[in-house]
Amino acid sequence: MTAVDEIKSRIHIEELANEIPTVKLRKSGKNYTGFCPFHENKRTPAFVVFPDSGTWRCFGACNEGGDIFKFVMKRDGCDFSQALKTLAVKAGVELEPLTPQRKEEDAHLDRIRQLLEESVLLYQHHLTRNPAGKPALDYLIKRGLTAETIASFGLGYAPAGWDTLMAHFTGRGYTIDELKEAGLVSENPEKERVYDRFRNRIMIPIRDTQGRMAGFGARILDPNDVPKFLNSPQTSLFDKGRLLFGMDHARRAIREKDQAVIVEGYLDVIILHQAGFTNTVSPMGTALTEDQLRQLQRLTRKIILALDADAAGAKATMRGLEIARQSLDHGDEMVFDARGLLHEESRLRADLRVTAIPEGMDPDEVVLRSPGEWESILKNAKPIVQHVMDTMAAASDLSDPKEKDALARKIIPLIEDLASPIERDTYRSRLAVLLRVNEESLMQLQGGDSVRQKPTARRRQKPSRREIPGVSEIKNPLRPLENHCLRLLMFKPDLFLALESELKNSKFEPLSVDDFQSAEAQEAFLLLMEAINQQEASVNDFLIDHQPETLTEFLRQINAGVNLEGTPDERIYDDLFDTITRLRLVHIREAIDSIRFLVTELAGWEKNQIDERESLLEYNKKMTELTGERLRLEKALQPEINFQ
Ligand code: CTP
Ligand code: MN
Repeated sequence: MTAVDEIKSRIHIEELANEIPTVKLRKSGKNYTGFCPFHENKRTPAFVVFPDSGTWRCFGACNEGGDIFKFVMKRDGCDFSQALKTLAVKAGVELEPLTPQRKEEDAHLDRIRQLLEESVLLYQHHLTRNPAGKPALDYLIKRGLTAETIASFGLGYAPAGWDTLMAHFTGRGYTIDELKEAGLVSENPEKERVYDRFRNRIMIPIRDTQGRMAGFGARILDPNDVPKFLNSPQTSLFDKGRLLFGMDHARRAIREKDQAVIVEGYLDVIILHQAGFTNTVSPMGTALTEDQLRQLQRLTRKIILALDADAAGAKATMRGLEIARQSLDHGDEMVFDARGLLHEESRLRADLRVTAIPEGMDPDEVVLRSPGEWESILKNAKPIVQHVMDTMAAASDLSDPKEKDALARKIIPLIEDLASPIERDTYRSRLAVLLRVNEESLMQLQGGDSVRQKPTARRRQKPSRREIPGVSEIKNPLRPLENHCLRLLMFKPDLFLALESELKNSKFEPLSVDDFQSAEAQEAFLLLMEAINQQEASVNDFLIDHQPETLTEFLRQINAGVNLEGTPDERIYDDLFDTITRLRLVHIREAIDSIRFLVTELAGWEKNQIDERESLLEYNKKMTELTGERLRLEKALQPEINFQ
């Protein structure tokens, strides 16, 4: 038994859920129902716990579920390995002891973090105690920061000298190599001289999600200096593509408000937090990465991108929307590409919206002028496609048929990309209204390749399902299906594209992390997606290089499952499609049963606690959707049934 299984067998999901007092579980049949701890509504029971499989699901606003690990990940806003640690302690299970080599590495990183922590203090000292830091402090105050904010973000000042910091820390026993690794000193190209990297700058500590020091962002004071911002170099701790500035302060608020806001600047984040908008973060002056979006998506589905007016609008280009923001001193280009964002949105099942900040202003200026104005800017955030449509329309002359045509050709591919047929329909009508053309002519424009393609002629000739091993050993009936699906995908990652397009053509949702319930399977799926979407290495090499220790055992088990060597691609693909369909059918049947229960339950709760009518309507709607989807899934499996 792996540590994960051991923990699962010791901690019961119903007990874990009941530790949150507002959940109030009640037994209904062999399951439990209660109030979801992860979304605001406390009046409608929408939370179901399935002791048999050790899983939970919210059928209300969250529409999410998983096992005990996923529960803790949601509850604490942490990642899988953190949840594993938390629950291991609770269950009294010892995790694999770290290898001596890992221990050494950890100790080393801790020392670098310690060095960074001490430099925060040093820079703070120079900001608040050293007369040389006075102009920096004055500047921050002029920008509207209070003393508390300056302290809570740990802002500081790096003096102008070339070796202030170096002298201080070598005097305290740190080596030059350690200073280099922390990104605090630089070296000239000839490598003969080492000097303080940050000089005469305002220092902004950047921490990881858990609040551990990672590096610094440093802003000029002297307007003639370049670059305007200097960040720590890419180091083992400072990974620009992963860090989000403000995340350590924002995590809780993002979860509570069920919304995350992304702005561009460090100072914007700080001032927005000061004004109470504590769910705000920013990337590190580079393009937003999928990894960053995923971190946010773990806390909330609702993510708002607050962009400069010019960035959000004027530069809408060829690929639909390509918001490029370049300044002379900007090393990296900031690119938000609508198509890319839409793709992420559907894959992560996020709700991404864009809002534009008034011309010539930054969020910090807006919120200092009027918090209410910032509030309404956030309220006006629009779905990506809508945003692109509106901004492009505003920039075109819609009385000119040629411009109309050009605009339609840019927007239609975005609409076609949407996973949901309902959204596709809605935007198509909206575009037709906007352009004052009928929908039919828009349909004629639709790109030939992806849309008209018929579902592949290939049909399941014969049941291709093979024995799935170990069904009886495992409690959760979904698990073998989840694992098998991962096994097939890992064996032939190339099939993923075909799968995506068949799912889309058959108007099914794309495969997503929500198709999996066990936290390990979810983690493995995300890792696999990362592997598929990169070009650096083969999928397999990438998986080997990037798998976290927490997944090693699980992945080993999966690969040890069935020998697929020599099976024709075609059969593997059929197996994959069927496995996913089956997995979804199990989910849906379970959901239908649960909603039946929840509806019965509604009667059992005290009248003043719930909004019975509203909930009933809501559940009825959901039920109709689910039964429709069930039918479609069953049909997708049909050919096989006929055959037998
Ligand atoms: N940035 C960067 N490197 C630069 C310029 C900008 O990394 N040379 C990043 C920083 O994260 C910065 C963000 O891009 O916070 C936005 O840049 P900009 O709008 O120029 O700065 P502001 O944050 O608005 O800073 P300020 O308001 O202090 O001028
Ligand atoms: Mn600014």
